[in-house]
Amino acid sequence: MVDRIRELMHEIGEVTAETREEAEQLRLKYLSKKGLVSVLFDDFRSVPPDMKREVGKLLNELKTLTQEKIDALRSRFEDVVMPDSSTEDLTRPVTMEPGTRHPLSIVRNHIIDIFSHLGYTVAEGPEIEDDWHNFSALNFPPEHPARDMQDTFFISQDPAILLRTHTSSVQIRAMEKSQPPLRMIFPGRVFRNEAISARAHCIFHQVEGLYIDRNVSFADLKQTLLYFAREMFGEKTQIRLRPSYFPFTEPSGEMDVSCNICGGSGCNICKNTGWVEILGCGMVDPAVLDNCGIDSRVYTGFAFGMGIERITMLKYQIRDLRLFYENDVRFLKQFTGTI
Ligand code: PHE
Repeated sequence: MVDRIRELMHEIGEVTAETREEAEQLRLKYLSKKGLVSVLFDDFRSVPPDMKREVGKLLNELKTLTQEKIDALRSRFEDVVMPDSSTEDLTRPVTMEPGTRHPLSIVRNHIIDIFSHLGYTVAEGPEIEDDWHNFSALNFPPEHPARDMQDTFFISQDPAILLRTHTSSVQIRAMEKSQPPLRMIFPGRVFRNEAISARAHCIFHQVEGLYIDRNVSFADLKQTLLYFAREMFGEKTQIRLRPSYFPFTEPSGEMDVSCNICGGSGCNICKNTGWVEILGCGMVDPAVLDNCGIDSRVYTGFAFGMGIERITMLKYQIRDLRLFYENDVRFLKQFTGTI
């Protein structure tokens, strides 16, 4: 009997199982009512009394060993949960709705489309910029407030590395790389250190445009912007230019479009003026051309820049800019533009 117990102990030590079923087979083989271990307990009755103590102890050891081994083998397969095929209908049709483009993407693509008809190509640049491309090359004087931490997110101060505050930085990169004629637009994400409200966000999107060649005039700028406004807001749209100031353009202007909501008669979107401001623009300052290696005695050019959020709000009459960033499907699925 003792020999048989030791033999089984050895055997149990060696067994393995590759599947849950094999482990179950082992349990039946050793531990079920008629199993090899259980049968030894039946035989125990015939062990002479003076041996009972020793054999009983050994037999219990065998049982514990067998139980532990089989539990260990079974636990290896426990985390593999098989799908319950009786509750899953694998033939059920998929009823997922197709996604929609984000309104800001729809309007950005529309802007790109309009300018591509005028021969503009698209370029992008880095969101993390140095001082030269975001400020210095654009004629910002050293004491300009935009260079302050209050307005700009700096990554480091010396050297000044920052999150670009406008996509004008990409204009500089384009002018440094190629000689005129240049006719390009620059869509991208920009960053300003502003409190978030219904009308402002610290992250927003711009599209800037640049046209440089011989004899480019303010009249060209005006006609280009009129074409853009009518394509974007409708044929009857009027524009008006007001004098303004930017360090990198001279002269500079801001452009208003006639309110496409009330048609100019006055409403709360245009604050009863009939006009809404949509972009900044101007003739590229000769100093900026020279900074980029373009001869300002030969070439002139214009630039303009607009916020995509603002155009989108006007086009779709959205009153709170924060909706663009909340990912609320009820808001987003109302926009079905395809470009
Ligand atoms: N960069 C200006 C801004 O962010 C916009 C602008 C671009 C103005 C080009 C004039 C010319 O406000």
